[in-house]
Amino acid sequence: MRELIHRKLERTAIGFVLAIILAASVGGIVEIAPLFTIDETVEDVEDMRLYTPLELAGRNIYIREGCYACHSQMIRTLRDEVERYGPFSLAVESKYDHPMLWGSKRTGPDLARVGGKYSDFWHVAHLTNPRDVVPESNMPAYAWLARTPLRLDDLGSHLEAQRSVGVPYTDEMIENAARDAFGQAVPDSEQASGVTERYGDETQVSAFDGVATRVTEMDALVAYLQVLGRLTKAAYQNTAAPEQVPDPTN
Ligand code: HEC
Repeated sequence: MRELIHRKLERTAIGFVLAIILAASVGGIVEIAPLFTIDETVEDVEDMRLYTPLELAGRNIYIREGCYACHSQMIRTLRDEVERYGPFSLAVESKYDHPMLWGSKRTGPDLARVGGKYSDFWHVAHLTNPRDVVPESNMPAYAWLARTPLRLDDLGSHLEAQRSVGVPYTDEMIENAARDAFGQAVPDSEQASGVTERYGDETQVSAFDGVATRVTEMDALVAYLQVLGRLTKAAYQNTAAPEQVPDPTN
């Protein structure tokens, strides 16, 4: 009987095309339908903050250098992952990630909660030459980042681009992007206070690359690594958030 229906169907071109469309749309709906309820899927948390211009610049460097080719940023709900990396990732934590960097390839460890795990000093040493701190590491060195001044003049446009895809940056944040990036990496400057004013008291203002007078790509990348997993405390509802490791250079 089944064979008969099948034979008939295969011989009616239009019927077969309709059957293919039907089969394909079921697959499509299964993937597309959840997007209509995305607002309910992504938890709403009050303490979620935005990437500062410096952190966003660091994120762009992370993408430019292909760090995502070896590092994922998504902790699965599996026990071994949670024990190694910390609470599993929540959807809201990558709410403002355009593009998202979840990844699936782990040559190196997952970085979703690396913020606060090491000092700024450790990150600079590690990025300058990973073998200096982890002798068996096969991660490439990125020493030039500390010698390359960060481009500040286009940061406002980067914020604007993020706003156009739904990240709620205000006009004031966009106008002050270059100023805030400078202030976040130069703690003693008059610009520094504006950063916490606009992005919240939890924002880390620090001489990330160890030199508190200039802003390099190293500053931006380390600022970004230090905020990973710390835009909201939502994932730590049942556990205490880890403390920042004291920086020996501060
Ligand atoms: C070729 C693969 C590869 C690339 C590309 C790579 N890494 Fe790594 N990374 C590793 C490996 C392997 C480790 C583990 C050994 C170590 O700590 O160096 C690691 C470790 C790390 C750690 C420490 C994580 C922890 O929890 O101990 C950080 C932070 C890090 N990488 C950041 C970066 C950044 C930022 C970039 C891009 C600028 C990058 N990595 C590019 C392979 C890579």
